[in-house]
Amino acid sequence: MKYNFDEIIDRRNTNCTSIEGFRQYIFHDPELKLPYKDEELIRMWIADMEFATPECIVEGIRRRLDRRIFGYTRLFSPGYYGVFSAWTEKMYGWTFPRGDLYICGGIIPALNELVGYACRSGDKVLIFTPSYTPFKAAADFHGLETVCSDLTDRAHNGYFEIDFDDFRAKAAAPAVKLLIFCNPHNPTGRIWTEEELRAVGEICMENDVLIISDEIHCDLLRSGRTHTPLAKLFPGTDRIITCMAPSKTFNLAGMFTSEIIIPNPELRARYKNFLNDTVHIYGNLFGSVAAQAAYIHGADWLDQLRDYLTDNVAYCKRFIAEQLPELRTYRHEATYLLWVNFQGLGLSHQELTERLVRDAHLGLNDGQTFGDAGEQCMRVNLACPRSTVEEAMQRLLKVKK
Ligand SMILES: Cc1ncc(COP(=O)(O)O)c(C=O)c1O
Repeated sequence: MKYNFDEIIDRRNTNCTSIEGFRQYIFHDPELKLPYKDEELIRMWIADMEFATPECIVEGIRRRLDRRIFGYTRLFSPGYYGVFSAWTEKMYGWTFPRGDLYICGGIIPALNELVGYACRSGDKVLIFTPSYTPFKAAADFHGLETVCSDLTDRAHNGYFEIDFDDFRAKAAAPAVKLLIFCNPHNPTGRIWTEEELRAVGEICMENDVLIISDEIHCDLLRSGRTHTPLAKLFPGTDRIITCMAPSKTFNLAGMFTSEIIIPNPELRARYKNFLNDTVHIYGNLFGSVAAQAAYIHGADWLDQLRDYLTDNVAYCKRFIAEQLPELRTYRHEATYLLWVNFQGLGLSHQELTERLVRDAHLGLNDGQTFGDAGEQCMRVNLACPRSTVEEAMQRLLKVKK
């Protein structure tokens, strides 16, 4: 391997959320004292990576840093659009008009804003569960009810699927005006097939349900897989908003730079107005520099990252199958987040959480934060050096006792 994904990088004293934020996030207690040193907790919760951002990006930032003035900056030239649309063309065979692209500080704030455009008081927002927590939170923020369609492992073959009968019925309810869709899916790791994507899109179009398709994990696929943007399958429609970002792919979440593609002119005008237009096609200065460097130079690094993550996932699934057969994992096609079902251990969710932290010294992402479907499940972040993954798997044995 050309790039060193085995390197252990010290993130202490960098205001790293994974290190500084776990008390609040996992335990909801900023004062909590662990019965051992903080460093002994292996943190596999928040979705960022323990790998260095590739040197080609660091070099791009360094070059901009050397210009020494960081005043008001907008993306006046079409450079960002050109670079990003060339990336989407190369990676997914899909592009979009320049005017549809907005660069913003994050998909979460964009979601919070866009839900308000799609819905009025009394409307409902549809999501597939388990679901990335901020989807429901965006509906809550506007006082809207969320309708959940549970993904099922109907065939008990370790493969999450959409229950289309349930989804169709829920999408047809007159109050449902918006689907927040995750493609590929966090936390299950599913890549939706083209057939599934078409069915989701058609059901929404038939029922006049707007779709926000959050595709932030679209580059983090197992080796050899490709991503299909939902909007690619519906070229004539303006009813699909697509969210993408370089943040997961290149470990740039702290740059707060994400891409929102809004084909509908009215929604676009409102979003432009919200951004006060001063930030139209604008991101954080270093974020836009980093993103462009990533899209121009980062493909080779990403190829190797994918192979490394594919091996990490395979290692864990094998380990769990051999050593902890009471646990279940699912067919894993995308993201670096492994959804693990602990129901077979017969522990309460509380007991499971306690054993993981107290006995195994593991900080995983609590499945319950993804909705009721996450009871006795955990999401495990595998974007870390293999030695960490190996150690974490050994520690996982301690939950069994
Ligand atoms: C599905 C999904 N959407 C959005 C985000 C966060 O996006 P941003 O950092 O652009 O707000 C995450 C981060 O984990 C995610 O998993």
